[in-house]
Amino acid sequence: MRVHVADHPLITHKLTVLRDENTPSPVFRSLVEELMTLLAYEGTREVRVEPVDIVTPVAPTTGVRIAEPKPLIVPILRAGLGMLEGMVKLLPSAEVGFLGMARNEETLEPTTYAERLPDDLSGRQCFVLDPMLATGGSLTAAIEFLLQRGATDVTAICILAAPEGLKAVEEALHGREVSIVLGAVDERLNEVGYIVPGLGDAGDRLYGTV
Ligand code: URA
Repeated sequence: MRVHVADHPLITHKLTVLRDENTPSPVFRSLVEELMTLLAYEGTREVRVEPVDIVTPVAPTTGVRIAEPKPLIVPILRAGLGMLEGMVKLLPSAEVGFLGMARNEETLEPTTYAERLPDDLSGRQCFVLDPMLATGGSLTAAIEFLLQRGATDVTAICILAAPEGLKAVEEALHGREVSIVLGAVDERLNEVGYIVPGLGDAGDRLYGTV
């Protein structure tokens, strides 16, 4: 598992405002989108491209374009949805699939309640979006889902992670190669599975408590 923490003062600044309990939902939503665009920049460093010939007003040249098959972006519902716009902005030609996962608040185990993904993911580059890598349960389940459908190239993009969750994902992957791009690694998980200091419940802060 390759972990990259996108250590950049702009990211840390935006994260600080995001963490603040006084930041209202509309600002929180815009910040998640902005942070996502910055993290997407880091997360797509190895996006597959192919050569393309073009002619500038001055001369012919060869550039690159995003290769086929198109990358697949998979936000984990519901909080991952808040990250989608920021990612699509940077990778507009990607396709988008959805994975609905909720954790049982007592066992903290993830369950899949919705899925809209291509049956065959062979050769697809997949980008999983989940803002909070807490216990690692839902991210592991999502990654397993994609690997079982044939994906061989998976990058997870998360805003915050707990060290315990990172360790759990790594152990569950048994050496299978996956990249994780993060805004920050926080101190720890608390006894009810929240990241400390974290930012609270990302879904609630994005969308309210419904
Ligand atoms: N999910 C959240 O939204 N926040 C946490 O701190 C942990 C899991």
